Order: sequence, then structure tokens, then C-alpha cells
Amino acid sequence: MTLNILTLNDVPLYGKRVLIREDFNVAIEDGKVINDMRIRAALPGIQQALAAGAQVLLMSHLGRPEAGIYQEKFSLKPVAARLEELLQHSVSFFSKLQPIPKTCSLALYENVRFLVGETENSPALAQEMANLCDIFVMDAFGSAHRAHASTVGVAEFAPIAVAGPLLMQEVTALDRIMRHPQHPLLTIVGGAKISGKIQTLHSLITISDTLLIGGGMANTFLAAQGFNVGASLYEPDQVPRAIELLKLAQQHSCDIILPQDVVINEGINKPVAAVTSTEQILDIGIKTSAAFAALIQHAKTILWNGPLGVFADPRYAAGTKKIAQAVAESSAYSVVGGGETITALEQFNYADAMSYISTGGGAFLEYLEGNSLPAIKVLTKKNES
Ligand code: 3PG
Repeated sequence: MTLNILTLNDVPLYGKRVLIREDFNVAIEDGKVINDMRIRAALPGIQQALAAGAQVLLMSHLGRPEAGIYQEKFSLKPVAARLEELLQHSVSFFSKLQPIPKTCSLALYENVRFLVGETENSPALAQEMANLCDIFVMDAFGSAHRAHASTVGVAEFAPIAVAGPLLMQEVTALDRIMRHPQHPLLTIVGGAKISGKIQTLHSLITISDTLLIGGGMANTFLAAQGFNVGASLYEPDQVPRAIELLKLAQQHSCDIILPQDVVINEGINKPVAAVTSTEQILDIGIKTSAAFAALIQHAKTILWNGPLGVFADPRYAAGTKKIAQAVAESSAYSVVGGGETITALEQFNYADAMSYISTGGGAFLEYLEGNSLPAIKVLTKKNES
């Protein structure tokens, strides 16, 4: 998609109050950030604005707290501390939406989801946010599918609204897959359920040459093909959808490859056809991993979302690990998205070998559906007006 939007490079920043919406929705344990990937990804935009002489204000959500009620576990304070370490720059922490003082160059506001009206995209709140800045920068790709006050409303009211470098980087990486991929384009989809991913699967089938399916969602497809999936996680109500998707794949010459063997309870490997009614499928099997890896070798473009088994348990981690290794060793352009997939890549030390890792979860999937995300749409509208 050629985006008709302004970016941070298009506006003079010196002396301006620049409000950047980040996605600092990160894992925090005992008051410390335990996964700072999203914070690191946000640094270039912050550094660019600071280096250009702007006063920089950051805002983000964290988790899903109830609006109007402060809860420490949802506070962004640990993020401010991590930002200070990464930037080697002091970060003021504002518990309310206050204007930035003349003497302050960088500040982080408390979790926007504590604010009443944030998730409803209240115009009054959006206006209050817009009043804080001269330029609003949307750099939270991971939240771009949310039409909230801090993602959409504020952009409508701010004097200038532009896209940040992370947002642009994400859109460029995903468009390389969606609009002009080198073929064969191979997609790997896993995770527990198909119900939240029907539209994404639909869209991926229309663009992919091959679609490898693993994880719990493969069980629903296996059931659609008449296999007994025993006591495995699967969605009986989604079987008709799975049948439709299998038909759609035929129409679009997309080869859907399902597991031929699986790992069940206690790490036993067996053919799919041999699964009994008391057994649970928990990983793809050895033959399936080898077949998937061989197909991955021949791909020129790879897109991956969702683990192929219950990888947190070493007995069911081999499938996801083998696929991660195959993607890491391939020379294809590879894009990976989704929190669990990234956790798996980090666990197996293959994260650095991917061409691009998206910071988006839901936003990544919605973008792949081919929809324009509300926070990107508003920037386009703003540029056209
Ligand atoms: C995410 O983690 O996918 C984003 O931060 C969005 O979070 P949300 O689903 O709570 O809006």
C-alpha cells in the first residue's frame, strides 16, 4: 500500500512539543520490564525527535485496566525506568495529562487506559491530549487497530499528525509480503484457535503458494478432513469454516499442508490417523517437521504467526524449534509476528535470524486481513484535508 501520510521526516521538529503514541504494552514482573522488545523498537523515533531539538512526550497503554481506577500492576513506571537505561537520558514520569514544562526534554505519561474515555475514543479526552502537543506522532503499530482517543482521536485534533519510523517500518515489511512478495510465498500459521483468525487465514490463502498449519488450530482442520483428534484442543463449531477454507485454498492454488504425524501426551510420536479418543495432540510430529522444513527451504518469502505446539513444555517444543531453525537457515525474506511466536524464537535463540519481527499482535493479524487500520486511516485523512 502506498501510504499517503506524512512521516516524522516531513515536519520540522526543533522547539516543538512532540507527542508520540507508543506501544509499551510489555511484560512486567515484580516492577521490572522482562521483555523490552517493544521499547527498543520505539527508540529510533524518540531519538530522532530528541536529536532534532524537540520536547518529547510519550504515551502508551499497558494491559487492560478498568478506566478510572489506578492499579499499580498496570503502571508504566517500570517502562520509564527501562527507557532511561536504554536511552541514557532522564525520563520524567507524569501521572496526569499535564503540559510539558519548558525545562523538560522527555516525559512519559501514565497508562492512558486509566483515563476515562480512552477506549471509547472520547472527543474531550482526545482534544485534551492534542492540546499537549504541536505534533502528534503515531508510532504504536501494535495498537494501530484500536480506534481509541490516544491512537485515532488525538490525531484528528492535533495541529499536525504524522507516522513514526516504527509504524512505517512495519507497514513496509508487511506490504513486501502482502503486495509484492517474491514467490514461492510460504505462510506458517499456528496457535490455539482458528476462530480469531478466519479473516486472516482467508486473506493469507489468497496470497500464499503454500500454507503450513500446526498448533491447536491444525486439529480443527484435521477434524474437517475426518480425522479423530481425540481429546485435543479443537473447535467443533469452526469445522464448517475450516472446510470452506480448504475449498478456498483449492480455488486459489494454495497448498494447505497439515500435520501427517503428531506428538501426543508424554511426548509420544504417532501418525495422525492413529490418535485415539483419549489422546491429546500437543505438537507436530517428526515427519511433519521434516516435511515443513523441506518446504521452507524452497520458499523465497516466509510469513509466520503462531507456534506449532505447546513449546513451553520441552516435550512439545521440538516442532516449533525445528521450524524456527529452518526459517533461520533459509535465505528467504522472513517476517514473524505474534507474541507467542516471538517468545518461542527468543527461547530457541533464533530471533536475530529473522528478516523482520513485527511488534504487532492483533494489529499484525488485522493488517494481514488486508484492512487499513484505523490509526493509519486517520493519518491519511489528515494529510488529505
Ligand atoms: C497488543 O499487545 O497486541 C497491543 O498492545 C494491543 O493491546 P490490546 O489488545 O489490549 O488493545
